[in-house]
Amino acid sequence: RSDHGRSVLGICRPHLADPVHRRLPGLIMMKNQYRENTSMLSPSSSRPSQGKGSGLGFFAVLLLLSLLTAYPVLIQAQTTPIIISHRGASGYLPEHTLAAKVLAYGMGADYIEQDVVLTADNIPVVLHDIHLDTVTDVKEKYPDRSRDDGRFYAIDFTLAEIKTLRVHERTDIRSGNTIYPDRFPTGKSTFAVPTLAEEIELIQGLNQSTGKNVGIYPEIKNPAWHREQGKDISVIILKTLTDYGYTNENSKVYLQCFDPDELKRIRFELKTRIKLVQLLGQNFNTMVTPQGLQGLSSYVQGIGPSIWHLVTGKNEAGQFNITPIAKNARAAGLVVHPYTFRVDALPPYVDHYDDLLQLFYIDIGVEGLFTDFPDRTMGFLKKNGLR
Ligand code: G3P
Ligand code: CA
Repeated sequence: RSDHGRSVLGICRPHLADPVHRRLPGLIMMKNQYRENTSMLSPSSSRPSQGKGSGLGFFAVLLLLSLLTAYPVLIQAQTTPIIISHRGASGYLPEHTLAAKVLAYGMGADYIEQDVVLTADNIPVVLHDIHLDTVTDVKEKYPDRSRDDGRFYAIDFTLAEIKTLRVHERTDIRSGNTIYPDRFPTGKSTFAVPTLAEEIELIQGLNQSTGKNVGIYPEIKNPAWHREQGKDISVIILKTLTDYGYTNENSKVYLQCFDPDELKRIRFELKTRIKLVQLLGQNFNTMVTPQGLQGLSSYVQGIGPSIWHLVTGKNEAGQFNITPIAKNARAAGLVVHPYTFRVDALPPYVDHYDDLLQLFYIDIGVEGLFTDFPDRTMGFLKKNGLR
């Protein structure tokens, strides 16, 4: 029985040995590649139109999935799941700073995430938003450089200008308050916006000096919007990845995006061989049917659902309402890497972080998850004999 008083059925997952790559010429994956042996929806204030439709449709589908799965679909993990450090160890240091990435590395993350946008001079930089104003002092440094909507866009600044900014903990764009007031204090120490290349060099350098092999997990942010601005962000990011040796299915990288059309383009037109992950936002309903997931498996190796796509809450009997998405993804040969696991922002149906990890890592059996707290996540895995 699990900690939650529910039976763990111990259903072995259909193995991921041979799945999607047979359908991808040139991609031959090793047997255990997807569960690697090393190792609430986010407060995203600005996630414009990345394949995310109406909020009403989103919740209607969640409700439907919840009703369809009042019984627990529990699958026991077989091998070691991975820790993906969400924007670095962002529970402790400002997100997407090199300091946060080093801390994540030291805490044992298997992969470290980079959200990527472009500067005016076409340099990929590591920032969660296309805007600069929620995590930097751009308003103070460049008060006249906002657009008509009052926002300051990274794409309107050169890298040299962006390098003059100080990064701080994320703030709410309307109130100006910090999103997580108990995290790193605003205005203390000095942090800058890294380029994607700088961050890769940091992680690869640590890999050399420590002998570890930590991976990268970049996300292409708002590709359609970048195209409207006259820039092809995917081509630029792929070139950087290629320059640093991430070229094939064995490379220690997952490239993620919310936009399914862009992922298809990356696979079939730009012809990358690296592993791809389809992120699920609000407009996900057709993608997560069994047929939809089979379709996804023709061009991606995994899905990145939110916590809420997989567990919608508890039923009247106190059981978790687990949707069939993870089970169906696994049947399609896809790994499941949900986001975002935070000690200081638990979903309402659990009281403790370890209970949340038990539910996702052990009961549902996800192959990895995005967390702001890689240390706490590593502690859970060790306690459960998974490290
Ligand atoms: O990419 C996984 C997760 O990070 C998605 O949410 O908004 O934090 O990029 P977001
Ligand atoms: Ca992300």
